Amino acid sequence: MPDIKAQNCTINLEGNTYEFPVIIGSEGEKAIDISKLRDTTGYVTLDIGYKNTGATKSNITFLDGEQGILRHRGYSIEDLAEKANFLEVAYLLLKGELPNKEQFEDFDDSIRHHTLVNEDLQNIFKTFPTGSHPMGQLIAMISSLSAYYPKALDPNRSAESKNRTVLRLLAKMPTICAMIYKKRMGHPVVYPNNNLDYVSNFLNMTFKHVSDSDYQPDPVVVDAMNKLLILHADHEQNCSASTVRLVGSSQANLYATIAAGVAALWGPLHGGANQEVLEMLEAIKSDGGNVQKWVDKAKDKNDPFRLMGFGHRVYKNFDPRAKIIKKTCDDVLNRLGINDPVLEIAKKLEEAALTDPYFVERKLYPNVDFYSGIIYRAIGFPTEMFTALFALGRLPGWIAQWQEMSNENQPIGRPRQIYTGQTPRSFIPRGER
Ligand code: CMC
Repeated sequence: MPDIKAQNCTINLEGNTYEFPVIIGSEGEKAIDISKLRDTTGYVTLDIGYKNTGATKSNITFLDGEQGILRHRGYSIEDLAEKANFLEVAYLLLKGELPNKEQFEDFDDSIRHHTLVNEDLQNIFKTFPTGSHPMGQLIAMISSLSAYYPKALDPNRSAESKNRTVLRLLAKMPTICAMIYKKRMGHPVVYPNNNLDYVSNFLNMTFKHVSDSDYQPDPVVVDAMNKLLILHADHEQNCSASTVRLVGSSQANLYATIAAGVAALWGPLHGGANQEVLEMLEAIKSDGGNVQKWVDKAKDKNDPFRLMGFGHRVYKNFDPRAKIIKKTCDDVLNRLGINDPVLEIAKKLEEAALTDPYFVERKLYPNVDFYSGIIYRAIGFPTEMFTALFALGRLPGWIAQWQEMSNENQPIGRPRQIYTGQTPRSFIPRGER
């Protein structure tokens, strides 16, 4: 790993000159290290939405939004999506290297030992109203795991015990997602079959009926699901990963920390966009399929509507994940023999937006969420499950971010503010106000 090179930069404030280190990452990214800014100058920085703020150094994921590059531990997302399976990528994110055959088998085997979810959790589960949103259920279920594994509450427990929590989370997440699907369908839960690989086991728990002994996950679907999970596996310091780091920095237990990450993901501007995209495409279809009308609506500043699945905080050229997903979407629908009219609408919408000056000037391109929902739907998932599937894919990334933060003993996250409220004033008794 190349060394971070040190330089200095000077800042002039109120006639005084201060020097701050400039650090350069292994891909040439530059930052001014202002960690001593307040102590030396009395100033803080103001960067609402953290658009210019590096919250950490990290060696997990590299992303170049201008060039549309995404790499995990140095491997391109294109290579990983094409050649690896999801558990290999999870291992890579967590341990820093791709596993050899033996390491993979050990990792896979350990996960297979933890797939069951405590039966008592079913009691919590039963209390959710049928049809309640999967993300609300997922947050509650993940957080509830802390009640069953209280050792996870000790921030100073052994590395082995911490690793067991990581394995438990990775193993139980597909089981919980499948339970949520079954509840939604009003079907009995299908227990894990630990003879199956990670993705096949998830599909089996989801789509197999208890009474159906012949169910075999379709290899096309297993392959597509692996790709989708890989494409969502990590995305450096996004809203949910930053949430995970922030919550984890207080030494909250990993279950609570991941539940917080899932909550951050739920929002329509983040992972919740995949559900919104499909609902938007359906709305365009029922409205007669006039995509230009919806593009115009998105441009209208008096209309809160945004083109969902378009735009990204960091990608300003293209989202490499969206490119892979678009191709996978065509492949999967062809191979499954599905003709979904919303795919045509999505393509027309993309074409209309990409040639419209509003979107071109603002560098708004389709993001990972634009085509993923069409594949999820072709596989058989209801729209409301989409964001939970994003969470399933993102889990190893969140854990890797948390691990890096806690292994480095990073301090508790605690931003400053610029107060803009009232200056001191005298209290006036209620009757005199
Ligand atoms: N439709 C219409 N206008 C848009 C859109 C959109 N989808 N996205 C951004 N804009 C406009 C925005 O109104 C603003 O215009 P102006 O400069 O005239 O005020 C300009 O583009 C810049 O937008 P911004 O909100 O300042 O950009 P941001 O970096 O803060 O927001 C975003 C990024 C992803 C939240 C935003 O593009 C968006 O809301 N997209 C739709 C939701 C979506 O698809 N989210 C999924 C993101 S990818 C999955 C993930 O990792 O979370």
